[in-house]
Amino acid sequence: MSDSGLSLGCIVAGVLAGGVVALVMWWRLQRRATTRAGALRAAIGSLGTNGGDSSTARLAPSDRPVLDALAHVTATLRDRVATAEQVRDLALSRVSDGVIITDSHVIVQFVNRTQADRLSLPQQRLVGRSLIEVLHDHDVDEAARRCLSTGVEQRTTVEVGPDKRYIHVSATPLGGGAGCVIVLQDRTEVRRLERVRREFVANISHELRTPLATLKLLSETLVMGDGEDPVIVKDYLGRIEVEVDRLAQMVDELGALSLIETGQVVLERETVHIDAVVRRAVARLEAQAARSELTITVDVPEDLPQPYGDEHRLEQVLVNLLHNAIKFTPVGGRIRVSAACADGAVKVSVQDTGVGIAEDDLDRIFERFYKADKSRSGTGTGLGLAIARHIVELHGGRIWAESAEGKGATLSFTLPLASSTD
Ligand SMILES: Nc1ncnc2c1ncn2[C@@H]1O[C@H](COP(=O)(O)OP(=O)(O)OP(=O)(O)O)[C@@H](O)[C@H]1O
Ligand SMILES: [Mg+2]
Repeated sequence: MSDSGLSLGCIVAGVLAGGVVALVMWWRLQRRATTRAGALRAAIGSLGTNGGDSSTARLAPSDRPVLDALAHVTATLRDRVATAEQVRDLALSRVSDGVIITDSHVIVQFVNRTQADRLSLPQQRLVGRSLIEVLHDHDVDEAARRCLSTGVEQRTTVEVGPDKRYIHVSATPLGGGAGCVIVLQDRTEVRRLERVRREFVANISHELRTPLATLKLLSETLVMGDGEDPVIVKDYLGRIEVEVDRLAQMVDELGALSLIETGQVVLERETVHIDAVVRRAVARLEAQAARSELTITVDVPEDLPQPYGDEHRLEQVLVNLLHNAIKFTPVGGRIRVSAACADGAVKVSVQDTGVGIAEDDLDRIFERFYKADKSRSGTGTGLGLAIARHIVELHGGRIWAESAEGKGATLSFTLPLASSTD
């Protein structure tokens, strides 16, 4: 082999050897970099977990400051998330509406305290369950699913529970299809008030129609009759007066009721002499009772303790009760007004021997405009007992009726004694 051939062979061998060495070094560097990156990844992954120590042991010393910086950022972010969650929980627990947050699979992620209380379960027991499992309501579940599939807020109303609470539900999507927020608003009371208001207006117009129709008829007859027969004219005018009185009474009662219900009545409290109040009320209605040949007896002990209250308003209560007793007791009947001390209160009762009240009506007669038996109730608006109940309750007392139909009725109310009010 020539000299030049030998040196070429050496060069090739040298290059090859150099290449192998370079390849080995590159491979070792690559492996070290991979191991380092792996150790760093593992250490980052274990930040804030218990396995932190074993992961950091394999870490290159030059990577430790990086890990420390990341650990700091992670801890700060974790604190912020925890604070944000606390604020959210606190804010949502204060609202009176139920709030449920679900993920995109309608699995409950959060329930506020209001809703958990409504379901009588601790908040944490509800998290992780499906919405249908938590609420047992297909309409709400359907609204949540539609909200998730369309990305548009859904609204519905449902009636829940044995007491048929009327709940307004809105399901609002969370950004990016991450889930939805369901707000459950209890509108039972609002709906009840709306119904009461509608009934109230309907009742007033109904109650006004009858006396107005009678007045129109009587006045038309008078106009057409040219007023020839003074006896008939007097009779008609008398009937007009009755109807006008009836309308005036209704307006007075509505005014009184409105004042009480809007909280504008301020009781003028003083020591109440029940005996005197009873006697004044009886005196006001004596003539009316005599016309129906009814006897009224009063049984109020002289040493009765004196409650604290508004004598004028309590007299109104007694007048309303006595007025009813007279109205619903046939000729020749008896009415007894009594008072006694019972359970830290004075109890006053008005008992009659009249038509009585059916069991189903015993509570309802205290509602506005409620008349137990319209065919027998005769004149009256059905407001007297509603007013009486308000006045008694303003005094901290209770009013109720007892009766066996056909065997008379007893209406009683209590007034707490001075120390138990105010
Ligand atoms: N002592 C009673 N005996 C039988 N029924 C009664 C008696 N007291 C009340 N009621 C029944 O309760 C209903 C409601 O009584 P309430 O005093 O509120 O109205 P009213 O007497 O019909 O009208 P108003 O008092 O406004 O003139 C009466 O219509 C009647 O049906
Ligand atoms: Mg009445």
